[in-house]
Amino acid sequence: MTKKKMTISDFQTYKEEGRKFTYVTAYDYTMASIVDESECEVILVGDSLAMVMLGYKSTVGVTMEDMIHHIKPVVKGAPNTFIAGDMPFGSYNVSAEQAIANASRMLMETNCDCIKLEGGVDLAPTIARMVKAGIPVMGHIGLTPQTSTSLGGFRVQGGTPESARKLIEDAKAIEAAGAFSIVVECVPSVVAKELTQALRIPVLGIGAGPDVDCQVLVTQDLLGMYGDFKPKFVKQFAQIRKAMVDGLNLFHEETLNGSFPSPEYSFNKAVDIPKLY
Ligand code: KIV
Repeated sequence: MTKKKMTISDFQTYKEEGRKFTYVTAYDYTMASIVDESECEVILVGDSLAMVMLGYKSTVGVTMEDMIHHIKPVVKGAPNTFIAGDMPFGSYNVSAEQAIANASRMLMETNCDCIKLEGGVDLAPTIARMVKAGIPVMGHIGLTPQTSTSLGGFRVQGGTPESARKLIEDAKAIEAAGAFSIVVECVPSVVAKELTQALRIPVLGIGAGPDVDCQVLVTQDLLGMYGDFKPKFVKQFAQIRKAMVDGLNLFHEETLNGSFPSPEYSFNKAVDIPKLY
């Protein structure tokens, strides 16, 4: 049965009904079509493509052009899945006008369903302007990879009473600004639980424990494809990297021992070839 694509109002309904859902990444057509075939409800074309697809050390080098280039094939590959496009570093922090122009461009050129951006209280006025301009906005607080250097690296956020209170203030400000959902990354489970209870919009948790509305993971992490590092919160639900390397090695072995290509994989039509030499 074909999956029914979630809408923005479904995010609210799921929250109200206490219905959990899942959110995974895709950066290309093939992976998008695989996610579309699965039960996972939401795709993020994340700026994590910097590391996962482009081999960069952080998300900071990714541009609007990179994001648009990758969102377009994902939209083609996953017609039955809600798709969020990530706004890259430097594309929304200069002014509300810059944020509206870049978000509008992302939506218009790719046809994705919403945009996501990172930031708390300070970004709330910009988000309010974007929402007023008709842009569906998903927030992102806690560990925000684009500014992780200022946050002291990739570490758990909200681990002290003061920082937990700040996270709740950030989340409340993003909700009040009109975001329809919010990613909360790398925070203690108790803090994420509190946030989930405090907010009317769904909390999409990554490294945020079990008591959130939606679980988020990078697909290449959860399938065991990405080999550079594995954060503590990642469970590998499959070992695709090993399956891929094994498949490549089998191809190599059968090529060298002559068992590939067998007649089954060859064009076996008899041809009377004229002698030319
Ligand atoms: O870019 C990304 O993959 C993300 C997730 C970590 C939520 O922002």
